[in-house]
Amino acid sequence: MKGKVCMVTGANQGMGKAASLELAKLGATVIMVCRNERSGREAQKEIKRQSGNDSVELMIADLASQQSVRSMVQDFDSKFDKLHVLVNNAGGLFADKQSLLNEDGVEMNIAVNHLGSFLLTNLLLDKLIASKSGRIVNFSSMVMSKTLNMKTYKGEETAAPMKMYGQSKLAMIMSGYALVRRLEGTGVTVNALHPGFVKTESAMKSIPKFLRPVIGLFALSPEQGTKTAIYLVTSPELEGVTGKYYVNSKEKPSVPVSYDESKQESVWSYSAKLTGLA
Ligand SMILES: NC(=O)c1ccc[n+]([C@@H]2O[C@H](COP(=O)([O-])OP(=O)(O)OC[C@H]3O[C@@H](n4cnc5c(N)ncnc54)[C@H](OP(=O)(O)O)[C@@H]3O)[C@@H](O)[C@H]2O)c1
Repeated sequence: MKGKVCMVTGANQGMGKAASLELAKLGATVIMVCRNERSGREAQKEIKRQSGNDSVELMIADLASQQSVRSMVQDFDSKFDKLHVLVNNAGGLFADKQSLLNEDGVEMNIAVNHLGSFLLTNLLLDKLIASKSGRIVNFSSMVMSKTLNMKTYKGEETAAPMKMYGQSKLAMIMSGYALVRRLEGTGVTVNALHPGFVKTESAMKSIPKFLRPVIGLFALSPEQGTKTAIYLVTSPELEGVTGKYYVNSKEKPSVPVSYDESKQESVWSYSAKLTGLA
């Protein structure tokens, strides 16, 4: 990975941190995108020390805020000509009643898990195309919804947080499939994954307290959970392979509705509208 510039979102803990460390060990220039400067700095220091790689940069963005994503990309644009890898990892289950809508009036699971990554990816496309063989890797989940309901995005219809998490992961995978068509001939690939059940802060919070000790015994470590992402980023046999969904480093089908091209286009255009993209 020497000479390659790789951006990982949500890089201060969990799988984003584990992926950043692995890419730094492989010699890449790593851009860690974090929303919290203090924990981002701590993770950056630790990754530099453990990998022996000094080319690890920290950039700050809150994916719930489109303004914040835009200004981080401006910062990136001023420093880098190319981006070889974008790992859209940041996300989680947002269930706090105080913050169910973001500043743009969008439901929080959709805002962070889908629209933040959607906007970031679109703003970085020219840099990914400039690298000639850019790879976009999206952290989806096997709990992605089986039906699409875009009326929940701005709260015209409401659903429980776990259902909204599923909607956000479905939107991410469907807009990824729509992006594949737009990137034809550029050499840039877009693939998605489910990492397995991984013992991280957000995953453990999503299960009842009394079950945590038992479930924790069977859950993967963040290092194990990040293996599929590292495979999608680094593996030479995946050059040019695009529009696929992987579990345990094996290609798997995503839910049937995700392959409906007209619905993919609806998710794409509504997401573009909500993020103010042409
Ligand atoms: N763990 C699992 O079992 C599992 C299963 C399927 C899919 N996934 C997906 O895998 C990805 C990584 O999750 P994880 O389990 O590694 O979780 P984690 O350890 O809780 O890490 C989540 C990361 O996302 C960041 N983040 C959250 N909201 C953000 C925002 N508004 N702006 C910027 N960054 C934000 C967090 O930053 P802070 O530290 O500042 O909060 C943190 O760095 C997520 O997309 C998750 O949905 C996880």
